[in-house]
Amino acid sequence: MVEQTTQKQPRTNKLNELTGKEWIKFTKSWFIHNPPPREDTKMLHPACFPETLVEEFIKFFTKRYQWVLDPFLGTGSTLVAAQNSMRNGIGIEIYPEYAEIARKRLSQKKLLKHEEVREIVIVGDSRNIVNIFKEYNLPKVDFCITSPPYWNQLKRNYIRQKERGEKGLDTYYGDKQEDIGNIDDYKQFISEQKKIFDGVYEVLKDFGYLVIITNNVFYEGRLYPLAFDTLISLSKKWVPKDEKIWLQNDKPLLPLGIYNAWVGNRCHQYCLIFRKEPEKLEKDIADS
Ligand SMILES: C[S@@+](CC[C@H](N)C(=O)[O-])C[C@H]1O[C@@H](n2cnc3c(N)ncnc32)[C@H](O)[C@@H]1O
Repeated sequence: MVEQTTQKQPRTNKLNELTGKEWIKFTKSWFIHNPPPREDTKMLHPACFPETLVEEFIKFFTKRYQWVLDPFLGTGSTLVAAQNSMRNGIGIEIYPEYAEIARKRLSQKKLLKHEEVREIVIVGDSRNIVNIFKEYNLPKVDFCITSPPYWNQLKRNYIRQKERGEKGLDTYYGDKQEDIGNIDDYKQFISEQKKIFDGVYEVLKDFGYLVIITNNVFYEGRLYPLAFDTLISLSKKWVPKDEKIWLQNDKPLLPLGIYNAWVGNRCHQYCLIFRKEPEKLEKDIADS
């Protein structure tokens, strides 16, 4: 008779360096994230996400020294998070001014210095991401996390941007034609955004994950389901895995539509999770 062992075998963690408890905690479908104040960067860019939030995703989807990509880098929060968590990073940003802020943030003294990792900031159009990777001889990445422009909303969102405008700060990214935040036609925006993620698919290692932080938007009296259309448009190639909802409990409520009609105060964002599973794609093509 074969003797049964009651001792549990330690399992190999294929994805990250978290404990079982930390792993399970992160898989909850919503979270509240109140980042520490960092007025400096918030002032310089109209739509940056907190590096502390990005760091949590990076620590779930990678191990130390792996490569993280952000094709809409802005002021570099993703690379700051990568540096802090000892991951290598590549970021692409269309405006040289924001790329310069990213470089400055990465050279700040207060940032944890991990000499073994590299954070690469590139000024370029992410529509050309495959060529950019070739030109700079960049390695394939393990994980991509990013927040694309929310369609043309920064140009339209007068109320949320009013205070910044009055202070003379940027209320939208800029006027470059290559900036996908300047595409007014909704369908065209979805299609251009998809093209960029088709490119990301090529430079990501097989079985790597992609996280996109985005939202639905309310514009001219109706809801545009940008987050849902982003998920649907990418799902032919990418395997959609989940959404995690970031609840912004500290966002001020505005008197939108008050005494007149329904206009919601949107205090959440979607973190859409996809994976590159080429075998699944080949099977789907063969089945269709
Ligand atoms: C939502 S912001 C990202 C902010 C960033 N997460 C941060 O914390 O600063 C989107 C960024 O994408 C950039 N962008 C727009 N179109 C682009 C393109 N075709 N290629 C590269 N960057 C682009 C914009 O200039 C903007 O800085």
